[in-house]
Amino acid sequence: MTMVCLTDFEEYAKQHLSKSTWDYYAAGADECTTRDDNLLAYKRIRLRPRILRDVSINDTQTTVLGTEISFPVGIAPTAFHCLAWHEGELATARATEAVNTCYITSTYSTCSVEEIAEAAPNGYRWFQLYLYRDRKLSEQIIHRVEALGYKALVFTVDVPYTGKRRNDIRNQFKLPPHLKVKNFDGMFQDQAESQEKYGTPANTLDPSISWKDVGWLQSITRLPIIIKGILTKEDAELAVQHGVQGIIVSNHGGRQLDGGPATIDCLPEIVDTVQGRVEVYMDGGIRTGNDVLKAIALGARCVFIGRPAIWGLAYKGAEGVKEILQILQDELRLSMALSGCRSVAEINRNLIQFSRL
Ligand code: FNR
Repeated sequence: MTMVCLTDFEEYAKQHLSKSTWDYYAAGADECTTRDDNLLAYKRIRLRPRILRDVSINDTQTTVLGTEISFPVGIAPTAFHCLAWHEGELATARATEAVNTCYITSTYSTCSVEEIAEAAPNGYRWFQLYLYRDRKLSEQIIHRVEALGYKALVFTVDVPYTGKRRNDIRNQFKLPPHLKVKNFDGMFQDQAESQEKYGTPANTLDPSISWKDVGWLQSITRLPIIIKGILTKEDAELAVQHGVQGIIVSNHGGRQLDGGPATIDCLPEIVDTVQGRVEVYMDGGIRTGNDVLKAIALGARCVFIGRPAIWGLAYKGAEGVKEILQILQDELRLSMALSGCRSVAEINRNLIQFSRL
């Protein structure tokens, strides 16, 4: 089978994963309006290509937080990679190391942060953090990732509670017994213990998190802090005022609040508010190099892919994730050339046909 574009991998994954696993990865909240709009919103945007600009050489390299990556696409944090491929996050780590881009490792990984670091010792990684009711658990994992050379903490703020994903309820989705959230092996795996300690078995995330916790994080770590899950200029301004180093414009792939905006539609107001004081990244619905070009043109420093990386894993482990990234890079390079951009720095708002929006 020749894999030409990311949706070919989606089709493959849908055919080869079990129904409940596929449904879990594909899920959006409620009616999936926001999940679907994340993709459609790019298709409403038209480009204004420039010509006769000698695009015989074009360069996709860029930097995030001062570190060079091969192109402005990284891997968003997603849970449970071992459900898609037996090596799980180890494969994702090897692929991103080979391609030289950023991998945001999820708190809910089925391999531990230590195993992931060992699998790809030269990989560039950030760690995605959820705050637990028991802050000691969070503090311990922060110190572990610091020691392992993870370069930033990505604090996910859009899950005070888990969104209502209908198929997961219908399928009674849960992690099969042979897999674990390895980062907390033995710490609160035991449902009975967790029940006793927190009164709620599965949900130990803290719904009371607030801006105060950003200060708390800053008091216990020197790692840069990036807030993931901002959708408004008001919250973007607060994030900058609280001294974070970056923002990820994200609606969690439409898995949390349904009826919220597509992320690409939020990006301009956030970029305008932030005015370059911190880096602004985004995720949600990136499926082609054109989508990447539009997000960069509207001011994202880098974008991240969630589900497509999982489809790559399901297809062929590390090789599959590498193929996904390479296809996106090739598509981005071609779109840059066809629109007259020789470097990422030349991609700007003049590329976007605002009159049509
Ligand atoms: C996610 N996402 C997510 N985010 C996060 O901060 N921590 C996590 O553990 C997870 N887990 C997770 C699992 C699955 C199956 C999905 C699909 C998503 C959200 C993720 O980081 C990202 O915001 C979206 O996936 C981006 O949208 P696309 O690229 O999937 O359209």
